[in-house]
Amino acid sequence: MKMSNRLKNLLLGGILLFSNALFAEEAPLIMNVSGRQTTSQDGQWKTIVDPFENGYYDYRLRPYDGGYAQDKTYSDKHVLQEYDFETDKTLFVPGDWNTQRPQLYYYEGTVWYRKHFTYNLAEGKRLFLHFGAVNYEAIVWLNGKRIGEHIGGFTPFNYEITHLLREGENSLVVKVDNKRKPEGVPTVNSDWWNFGGITRPVTLVEVNEAFIRDYYLQLKKNDTCTMEGWIQIGGSKKAETVRVKIPELKIDKEFVTDTNGYVRFEMKAKPELWSPENPKLYDVAFCLGDECVKDQIGFRTIQTLGKKILLNGKEIFCRGVSIHEETAYYSGRAYSRDHAETLLGWAKEMGCNFVRLAHYPHNEEMVKAAERMGLLVWSEIPVYWTIHWGNEATYANAENQLEDMICRDKNRCNIVIWSIANETPRSEARLAFLSRLAAKARSMDSVRLIGAAMEKEEIRPGLLTVNDELGEVLDIISFNEYVGWYDGTWEKCDRVNWTFDIDKPVFISEFGGGALYGLHGERDELFTEEYQEELYIRHINMLKRIDGLAGATPWILKDFRSPRRHLPEIQDDFNRKGLISDKGQRKKAFYIMQKWYREIQEAYK
Ligand code: GCU
Repeated sequence: MKMSNRLKNLLLGGILLFSNALFAEEAPLIMNVSGRQTTSQDGQWKTIVDPFENGYYDYRLRPYDGGYAQDKTYSDKHVLQEYDFETDKTLFVPGDWNTQRPQLYYYEGTVWYRKHFTYNLAEGKRLFLHFGAVNYEAIVWLNGKRIGEHIGGFTPFNYEITHLLREGENSLVVKVDNKRKPEGVPTVNSDWWNFGGITRPVTLVEVNEAFIRDYYLQLKKNDTCTMEGWIQIGGSKKAETVRVKIPELKIDKEFVTDTNGYVRFEMKAKPELWSPENPKLYDVAFCLGDECVKDQIGFRTIQTLGKKILLNGKEIFCRGVSIHEETAYYSGRAYSRDHAETLLGWAKEMGCNFVRLAHYPHNEEMVKAAERMGLLVWSEIPVYWTIHWGNEATYANAENQLEDMICRDKNRCNIVIWSIANETPRSEARLAFLSRLAAKARSMDSVRLIGAAMEKEEIRPGLLTVNDELGEVLDIISFNEYVGWYDGTWEKCDRVNWTFDIDKPVFISEFGGGALYGLHGERDELFTEEYQEELYIRHINMLKRIDGLAGATPWILKDFRSPRRHLPEIQDDFNRKGLISDKGQRKKAFYIMQKWYREIQEAYK
């Protein structure tokens, strides 16, 4: 795992979208914030809904920092002011605004967030401001000074604010803009709700002058007896002595960094291997002086061998399901441990050992809960549908999101597939764009597979395949197909077969069809539970005929909000392909999947 050169890309890429790149002071990502000295900023923030961005642009459409970011209170009735956070409404952070206020249900635009906080920072300590994610563009001010901006709705970012704190109350203002943009990642069209807001936790992180900023520790590729890792110190220009401690393995090793604060190392060890059946995690401490960052890390190997996927050298079948980052019951952006454990508990109940976290990096709680619960993970960046393949800033944005995803989760052993795209139309430019992303992912991470959701093709009536040059670049032949829903009815499943001419594992990243929970009728009546049940029965029989099928993640665990789904009384802004309703009710097809996965589990014992 090479240390990411994120800052260079950041300055070259996404940030350049803004004319004032000079203000960018984003600091390299701090690893494992929850394992550190933190102060949460979650709770009710004051907000201003600003559809015309009046708080940011003057009447000549020029950006000016003298707007809402100055957080002036409207007290002197002789001084004209046309905003006042103090007397405006609040929104809860973390969380989307769409499900917090009926007027914001469809809102796409700017909302200003403001939080006041005090902080006494001791001499010799440093303070960082960390955001789990903001969808989609954030500009951040502290005490009226612009400290940076970030693009990308599903990855973390942080700023050092040590020298910007003031005595007493500090004013933190964030301009959040979730407008979709053609050059964005994702672009303007998707099949999920464009939840806007500070959608993940905001945290103050206190560290020493020199501190362990980042680290990596996993098994060496295909070697269950050697751990490899590295440590990156922040704030030091001299060699430092660091320690790695894994008490249960009686490991307590010392390493000395170079003058950039970086050291790579290897250690002989024979850890109990992580697997879905035995999700073994070790307490690991990374120490510099008296300060240790503690994590829980699992160790495993993943590789392909012809059409097989091997976990710890043993063939597995990925009994998966796709999941959007959307809470059960109120169907808003998920962010908490409870949200994660509810959704993943449903996946376990269905018999899963794998989840596809679609179509963007989910929050850390989701990935960590999956690791604890014994669920392998497919993690994905939102390079989705009609991305602007020829736009260099779009590529830099996609690469930053890929880097941030890998940087944040590189120590999560349950992530076994990095996915770089979903259903992207084939073209030279798209192949070049995705081949660059795949190379970037491989340069950062040698111990995971690279996938993407490609699309199928009917080479002649009744014979289907994947005919996509991208398949040469990926480690698996992963693709979405909807035989029986978008492609014929369920009877078509009986009369089609599949053929693949690449000797790689076949992984079906989406299949399925819609049903409204509680709607019953004839088995050929669309959107009834009976139709969906029959579709799953016939589809699974079709999948059983595929040579080299190594995994499947049917679309999707739970009904989810989508602005594309308008059928009154049936969809009502929900995509109804869930195996479970948005209210947690299991549909008939859920039990068909559960039965199949039980059969597979038996067969792979
Ligand atoms: C596509 C896409 C999903 C979408 C699904 C559907 O495969 O990847 O994001 O929700 O189809 O149409 O329901």
